[in-house]
Amino acid sequence: MIFLKSEEEIERIRSASHVVVEVLNRLKEEVKPGVSTWELDKIAEEVALSKGAKPAFKGYRDYPASVCFAINNEVVHGIPSKKKVLKEGDIVSLDFGAYFDGFYSDSAITIPLGKVSPLAEKLLHVTRNSLYKGIDKAYPSNRLFDISQAIQDHVEQEGFSVVKAFVGHGIGRNLHEDPQVPNFVPENGNWGKGIRLKPGMVIAIEPMVNVGRPDIRILSDGWTAVTVDGTLSAHFEHTVAITENGPVILTEEGRE
Ligand code: CO
Repeated sequence: MIFLKSEEEIERIRSASHVVVEVLNRLKEEVKPGVSTWELDKIAEEVALSKGAKPAFKGYRDYPASVCFAINNEVVHGIPSKKKVLKEGDIVSLDFGAYFDGFYSDSAITIPLGKVSPLAEKLLHVTRNSLYKGIDKAYPSNRLFDISQAIQDHVEQEGFSVVKAFVGHGIGRNLHEDPQVPNFVPENGNWGKGIRLKPGMVIAIEPMVNVGRPDIRILSDGWTAVTVDGTLSAHFEHTVAITENGPVILTEEGRE
């Protein structure tokens, strides 16, 4: 069931989003060669708690930390560790959710450490652009898979592939709500172009893009998703409200 949000509820998701943006901006400053993902996780938790918010992922299905990391060939959901130390040339995705005043917000960015390969650079651009192309379709009167299609088309035109094992989601009083937001047009079933988008829907759009094949596997820690073929992967996510006037990005970073 899809819960439509009132303007007041959207403002509360905006408040949670401010915390998310603040945490991601702080992590961006802290990401450098030599830092461990464990250290970054501690900083994120501290910043969120200092704003009166709670890290949304901690304890969610027993996830043990505040941030999900994904380095290079990792796709999503990497658990922070003192042993995972970032180095020059890595790309790392930082995925953070906050719970504040009864509502959730969720966002992810992938950033380069210093100089990365041209291929990595292209992957970051394409993945980020695919997110914005998806957001550009988040108008009432459009349909859900218009978003999916825009993401998939862009990624595949650039020669990369979208991950199908994970999808975006509605968000609000729960971290994950209906509808699911795939980054591809589902091939089976009679869903057509998907449900019609309505003002008051709030969704987390989160393309995960692999350089090579779309397939992923989960490591023995039960969480970390990696590309089966070992190629690089990137992930960007925004929490977006659909209004009469179109999409409003609630987790907009404000600065780069
Ligand atoms: Co999400």
